[in-house]
Amino acid sequence: MRDARLAALLLAVGLVVALPAPAAAEVPENPTFHKDIEPIFQRSCQVCHRPNNMAPMSLMSYQETRPWARSIKNKVEVREMPPWHIDHKVGVQGFKNDRSLSDDEIETIALWVDSGAPRGNPEDAPSPVEFQEFGAWTIEPDVIVSSPPHTVPAEAGDWWGDYIVPSGVTSDRYIQALQTKAGDLRVVHHALTYAVTDPDADLNDSSQDAFLNEYAVGKNADVYPDGTGRLFPADSRVRFSFHYHSVGEEVTDQTELGLVLYPEDYEPDHILYSRQLGQAGELDIPAGQVTRHDGYQKMYLPGKLTGFQPHMHFLGTRQCLELIYPTGSTEMVNCANFDFNWHIVYNYEDDVQPVYPAGTTLHVISYHDNTEGNRGNSDPKNWTGGGSRTIDEMAFSWISWHDLTEDEYKAELEARKALADND
Ligand code: HEC
Repeated sequence: MRDARLAALLLAVGLVVALPAPAAAEVPENPTFHKDIEPIFQRSCQVCHRPNNMAPMSLMSYQETRPWARSIKNKVEVREMPPWHIDHKVGVQGFKNDRSLSDDEIETIALWVDSGAPRGNPEDAPSPVEFQEFGAWTIEPDVIVSSPPHTVPAEAGDWWGDYIVPSGVTSDRYIQALQTKAGDLRVVHHALTYAVTDPDADLNDSSQDAFLNEYAVGKNADVYPDGTGRLFPADSRVRFSFHYHSVGEEVTDQTELGLVLYPEDYEPDHILYSRQLGQAGELDIPAGQVTRHDGYQKMYLPGKLTGFQPHMHFLGTRQCLELIYPTGSTEMVNCANFDFNWHIVYNYEDDVQPVYPAGTTLHVISYHDNTEGNRGNSDPKNWTGGGSRTIDEMAFSWISWHDLTEDEYKAELEARKALADND
């Protein structure tokens, strides 16, 4: 962790260093469920894998876990579970809500499965985790906007689609905190929300909207640092963008967005923006090929990145974000693999949010795989291009940032240099 932080600090300062190798592996010799595996599951799996939740099975007890041992090993080794697709070996590390496993934890799980998945001594079990009550607000919203009732049939293919509903907010207001709450956790695979200002907005195209929030299981509210806020323009409507999936029983969902607003007429020192940046030009993805497309966005003011979320469709497999400094030198900020089933916002921990000088260009590099080897690809025999239908492709990043004044930028830089020197 410390090395990752140091790397992030240096990244912000524009220095590259070779980092020492990680410490010797901490993998127990004879791992058992209660002693070694259960603590990992508590931190990284149970938030989804518990009864009446989105995941297909519960991993709360030994009995429930045992039949899945082989499959668990497979899924964690390829880093499909927990769903978190940041490349640990590239760029900034240190994210909010990061449940990903360390290499040692993955090795521990693999060793446990290979040695017959022993239970061990129940007395070694950690005390159970108290999960947040289903359906609780963790903020006190001033405004609650609800999506229309959507009935998910007992058995049907996954449904991706949008609803746009009025918010009732009639003047420009700044958001201090916000939270999305699924009506039924089992069927809402993910939900994204946007502020829609165009009265003629297209139901199938969110590109002109302002991104607000991503719903993910177990995620609490987004609470912005004091003096920081996001504009919710007067008369905005709210777009809910859903991925619903069936659970063997008919379920009607209504998901809610809760907003905590700063007082009327209050303007925060830093306004947070979330926009689609680095959109590649024409996408050209021939049948049977893996392609790379590049998009660029110049930032005219100094600033600070707070979050990064790759956006592509079924053929998207990986995206990287690089900074090109005005001097011409470059730094890779992050790379993340991509799976259309999981829209994950990677929000940086406050002390590693990358800062950059005026004139920096954000460079977004997107990879699409139009071969048979890509499981998400139902049609490897056809050329694919850009467009807003789910079967078309996209290549941009949702970037969250706020601008800094030149003085603020210099102060941030000094503070980080000092920290890096002391480390
Ligand atoms: C954010 C929620 C979430 C977290 C955290 C999570 N899972 Fe999952 N898991 C799911 C969902 C949902 C599925 C169903 C497949 C899908 O949608 O990708 C799944 C599928 C699986 C499967 C495949 C089940 C099958 O039907 O074959 C395994 C095994 C699994 N998870 C293990 C784990 C383990 C082990 C962890 C922790 C190290 C974990 N998961 C963390 C949500 C989660």
